[in-house]
Amino acid sequence: MERTFAIIKPDAVARHLIGDIVKRIEASGLKIVGMRLVRLARAEAETFYDVHKARPFYGSLCDYMTSGPVVVMALEGDGAIKRWRDLMGATDPAKADPGTIRRDFGQNVEQNATHGSDAPETAARELAFFFRTSELTV
Ligand code: RTP
Ligand code: MG
Repeated sequence: MERTFAIIKPDAVARHLIGDIVKRIEASGLKIVGMRLVRLARAEAETFYDVHKARPFYGSLCDYMTSGPVVVMALEGDGAIKRWRDLMGATDPAKADPGTIRRDFGQNVEQNATHGSDAPETAARELAFFFRTSELTV
């Protein structure tokens, strides 16, 4: 069993897509073991995305991620990290495969509906950033 961290980003929450995205997660067989609606503080977004600090889109990404509430989730299943990345599709919705969340619900390369951890180390860091271990013992 593997766990990964997921976010339904502000653009998707604002467009009432929480239900559609959760439906795809559950239909895929991934188990939701943690879930909360939160509004990120600027400092939290900056820390969460500090790997992208040097990228030109960092400031804009932090503005966007603090622009409204997000849903943070812990997902569990065999190969959960890759399965969730596959469900999301490529970063740029225009390049994402048909049937993926970003292709169907993303608006552009920044406002792309969801986040997913990209490796076991980042999943562990990101899960710990938002959830206490005791919250995920379900
Ligand atoms: P994520 O971390 O959100 O799951 O997305 P990802 O791995 O596919 O993409 P990453 O390279 O980690 O970028 C993080 C987020 O930054 C925004 N972004 N904007 N303007 C741009 O060129 C650009 N590139 C990336 C997106 O919101 C992306 O998901
Ligand atoms: Mg990433």
